Parts: sequence; C-alpha cells; structure tokens
Amino acid sequence: MQAATEAPVSLKQAFKDDFYVGAALNGRQVSGNDAKALNLIQEQFNTISPENLLKWESVHPQPDVYNFEPADNYVTLGEQEDMFIVGHTLVWHNQTPKWVFEDEQGKPVSKEVLLKRMEDHINTVAGRYKGKIDSWDVVNEALNDDGTLRQSKWLQIIGEEYLQKAFEFARQADPEAELYYNDYNLWKPEKRAGAVRLVRSLQEKGIKVDGVGMQGHYGLESPSLEDIEASIKAFSDLGVKVSFSEVDIDVLPNPSGRAGADIDATFDFDEKYNVYTTGLPDSVQQQLTARYAELFDLFKKHSDKIDRVTFWGVTDNDSWLNNWPIKGRTSYPMLFDREYQPKPAYEAVLKAAAK
Ligand code: G3I
Repeated sequence: MQAATEAPVSLKQAFKDDFYVGAALNGRQVSGNDAKALNLIQEQFNTISPENLLKWESVHPQPDVYNFEPADNYVTLGEQEDMFIVGHTLVWHNQTPKWVFEDEQGKPVSKEVLLKRMEDHINTVAGRYKGKIDSWDVVNEALNDDGTLRQSKWLQIIGEEYLQKAFEFARQADPEAELYYNDYNLWKPEKRAGAVRLVRSLQEKGIKVDGVGMQGHYGLESPSLEDIEASIKAFSDLGVKVSFSEVDIDVLPNPSGRAGADIDATFDFDEKYNVYTTGLPDSVQQQLTARYAELFDLFKKHSDKIDRVTFWGVTDNDSWLNNWPIKGRTSYPMLFDREYQPKPAYEAVLKAAAK
C-alpha cells in the first residue's frame, strides 16, 4: 500500500522553514466577534499585524487619552497563540490626529514640542508592549513615489531628523524589538533608491534598522517580478531583513490604473468599476491564482532574505480594497473568500511552498 503523503494543512506549516506567514487583524477578529475568521487565523498564521488597532488615532486619540483595550486584545491573542507579533505603526502622516501637530490655537507646534510628543507616544505605546511586540513598523510611508521625502507634517515641522529620532525613541522604548521602515510601491526603481538612501543615511548615523517592509499591494499584472526581486536584493544588500508586510492582489479595474496604497487617491463610486458583484469569473480566479503562485515562487526563491509575508486581511470580507480607491465595491484580493473558504490561490501558494 502506498504511504499517504503528508500535504501541509496550513500556510504556517507549509512555509515553516522559509518565513513567517501572517495576516493583518481587525477589532472584530481580536475580540472574538468574528469567530470564523479567528479560527482561520489560529489555524493558518504564525504572525499577526494590527490593521488599524495600534495606529496613533486608535491608541492615542487625544493628548491625555490612550485607548489600549483593542490593542491589548490583539497582543494577548498573539501571545496565546505564540505568534510573532507586529506593531503598526509609530510614526505616519496618516491616521494621526490633528492635535499632534497643533497647539491649542490650532497653530503648528514647534519642532521641540513635536519631538517631545513623538517621544512620549513611542515610549508609552512601544513601552507598554516591551518584550511582547516583536517587530515595529517605526516609520511608515515617509517617501514619495519618486524617492524624495514626503512633505508630511513630521518632515515640515521637525525636518529630516524625525526619521532618526523615531528609530532612536523606539530603540529606547524596547531595545529588543525589531525596528522596520515600511512603505508601498518599493518595487519602483526611484522609490527603491529613495528607501536605500533613507536606510543608509540612518545606518551612517549609527541607527540600527532591522528591516524594510515592502507592503505588497499589487495588481494582477503589475508590478513585474523583476522589479520586486530587484528591491528584495537591494534592501537585503543593506544588511537588513526584508518582509512583505501588507500583501494583497487587487483584481478590480481602476479608473487611473494607479498602484500602491495612497489612501488619499480615491474616486467617486461608479458601478462600471464594481464589475464582479455576483462572484469572481473563472478566468479572473485563474489569473489571481497564477499571480499568487508566481509571487510565492519568488518569495520562496529568496527565503534566505525574507523574514515574513503578511496578508493585509484574512478574507475578502475584511479587505480595505472593498473601499479603496472606490468605496463600496466587491473585491477579491485575499486567499480566503467571503465564506471563509480557501480559494484556488490558497492551494497554489501551498504548492509553491512544496517546490
Ligand atoms: O474609524 C471609523 C469608524 O468610526 C467609522 O464607522 C468607519 C466608517 O467607514 O470608518 C472608520 O474609519 C476607517 C478606518 O479604516 C477604520 O476602519 C476609515 O474610514 C478608513 O479610511 C480606514 O482605512 C484604513 C487605512 O489604512 C487608512 O489609512 C484601512 O482599514 C487599513 O487597511 C489601511 O491600512 C494601510 C496601512 O496601515 C499602511 N499601508 C497601506 C494600507 C492600506 O491603505
């Protein structure tokens, strides 16, 4: 009789010798209100990221108000499941309340005041989860697509020094945690070069950066594997880890053909762009499957450089791509469908692991 072959039953098991595999979680999942998703999370993943729960506006909505309950639930879940726990994110231009940058009259605060607010926030948040959160996205999306620094309030008020300070404060708050720079569209040659400059300039100042997070909000055809691969190599050559921190694949048509995750680049709802409301056609399902397969082939090829691959959501239900760049569409970017069932792409990813 032929011995039964032991096919892997989960993503985490399939890639256990390669890299962590994870998902970004929302409040309903970490509180247990979405039990089916929670099952999938426990079964499939060995790392988690907080989709919105640890962002400044969630955790620190007003100067003297911290709201830690959802984030505590998130960290507790990760500890119970012995997962690699990611913190996202300490310093970002988005989902950061206006008060952070303003005085009581609504005027921009001084550099000193803003640095002090940044330090207090990082100390309080990263300090609370010291020894529990394994890796922090310290600075998120500081670059424009052309590789120059984004004119965020952080840059305008503090100057370039804000990058260094964010990493210093995070290191001080939790010396053991891995500290990452995280961004989207890092496959673009100009942006890749910008990220290399950014990390190198921190390293030259004696700041230890542990990793670069390539978000990985991709389309069916773009970016090319060559561009993604060139960035994996370029970041790895800096001596840092590379993670794919927010992977999803958008199958819907896009009015401007834009890629990435520029949250402000939105369009009014138009039914003509909401093309698969009753289900994903087979032909597109196949394209999605092939795209996930080729991406994971690439990740597997570079598993010596890649530390973690995290999906930005669990099922199609909870993906941000149902609401970006157009609100209220039916999107299909994940490996699990709206019924919490694995798609053909899931099987293809498992196969990539076995190669
Ligand atoms: O909090 C309000 C809630 O009170 C209200 O009822 C609800 C109604 O729509 O909106 C809620 O806010 C939404 C928030 O997510 C929490 O669900 C915002 O409208 C929505 O814009 C926000 O979107 C998040 C986005 O970041 C904002 O920047 C997405 O969920 C989240 O997936 C996305 O994640 C980012 C990463 O952090 C960084 N990289 C890009 C990635 C995708 O944009």
